[in-house]
Amino acid sequence: MSAAQRPSNDPLINQWMPFTANRQFHDQPRIIARAEGVYYYNTQGEKLLDGSSGLYCIPLGHGRREIREAVSRQMEVLDYAPPFQYGFPPGFQLATEVAELTPPGLNRIMFAGSGSEAVDSALKVALQYHRVRGEGARQRFVGRERGYHGVNFGGWSVGGMVNNRKAFGLGLPGALHMRHTHIKENYFEMGQGTHGADLADDLERFVNLHGADTIAACIVEPVAGSTGILPPPKGYLQRLREICTKHGILLIFDEVITGFGRTGQAFASQTFGVTPDIITMAKAITNGSIPMSAIAVREDIQQTILDAAPPNAVEFYHGYTYSAHPVACAAGLATLKIYREENTFGRVRELTPGFLEQIASFKGDPEVVDTRGFGLLGAVELAPKGKPGERGFKFLCKAFEEGLVLRCSGDSVVLAPPFAATPDQISEMIDIVRKLIRQGY
Ligand SMILES: Cc1ncc(COP(=O)(O)O)c(C=O)c1O
Repeated sequence: MSAAQRPSNDPLINQWMPFTANRQFHDQPRIIARAEGVYYYNTQGEKLLDGSSGLYCIPLGHGRREIREAVSRQMEVLDYAPPFQYGFPPGFQLATEVAELTPPGLNRIMFAGSGSEAVDSALKVALQYHRVRGEGARQRFVGRERGYHGVNFGGWSVGGMVNNRKAFGLGLPGALHMRHTHIKENYFEMGQGTHGADLADDLERFVNLHGADTIAACIVEPVAGSTGILPPPKGYLQRLREICTKHGILLIFDEVITGFGRTGQAFASQTFGVTPDIITMAKAITNGSIPMSAIAVREDIQQTILDAAPPNAVEFYHGYTYSAHPVACAAGLATLKIYREENTFGRVRELTPGFLEQIASFKGDPEVVDTRGFGLLGAVELAPKGKPGERGFKFLCKAFEEGLVLRCSGDSVVLAPPFAATPDQISEMIDIVRKLIRQGY
């Protein structure tokens, strides 16, 4: 519908929707009215399966009573206090509990409000760390093609999703991009592909070209999520770690999707046995209930920054009005308690083999060009029909009509079931995907 045709009393007109085809949405709205467990309900009260855990952020399912009650209690006790130069108990407690989950040494936790904010916070920590050590020339960041690190200026600059970059000009100067790891040799290999560890050597090439002393950090998602689930080839992350260590480059794992259990351990760093210097996390930290994110920083990196400042001085000029928001912290504490008490990450390990087997079962379908997956993240890539992404978008719209909410990245259909889903519910999601592919979507 053109602007001129859109009536000004259209109740949908005032919200400019994020990452949405706004005009198409007005013609074919997909309204979610409420949610409970692993189901959404549309305005007619019809059920829809949540095949993507919200945006990878509701692993425990929707409407957990314990989180709701913790939020409500916190609102009564302390709804807000300024986080600059003041502190409040839930922030300290949540930092302690997050640090119990992160790899050893990464125990300095700084909170923010979104994954994008966490990424920019991490990049700034890296810059200041080098600067206070007299290595201020380390200003470049190395990201990766098909990486997604949010939408703030640092994040999209190091990210490698073309559509998220092309409208916005040059971005951060000095951002370099390694090649992505989605290579033909690994198509249809579930889990980590056997080929492509050497793609990590792109980092070494940047060192040779620009000098290690100009590179502050390398940032990657251990499993690239938003570009259609790209697990790292075997040995790839280890190789990145080696190159970073050799050249004094900080390694940042962006675990905004993989953090809090998605790969069967608290963090993918533990699943893959590779410890970065900084981890970013968000989404599942509060089970998606209240916006929150965090970075976990190596203890000595923080100490170096603290020690470099004079007494009584603010050491790191960075923070957000909503950093460590007490209500978000309360939601986080309630969420982490459930993860511990229900052995949620153990449940992911139990569900994963059956889920990945079902994703793999699409191999051989002439419409399917690749299947991939790791943990409770799976993708079925369809042969394009029309422009790249056109088929994926139609698929998403039709799936909504069929009672399934999912993600489509380009023409890859992505499932990331809540950890609370039963094997039957996961099979139901798969069945809907299969039916739609058979129908030619
Ligand atoms: C790996 C990664 N980093 C950063 C972000 C940005 O998070 P947010 O949308 O909360 O800003 C996302 C969002 O999906 C993500 O997947």
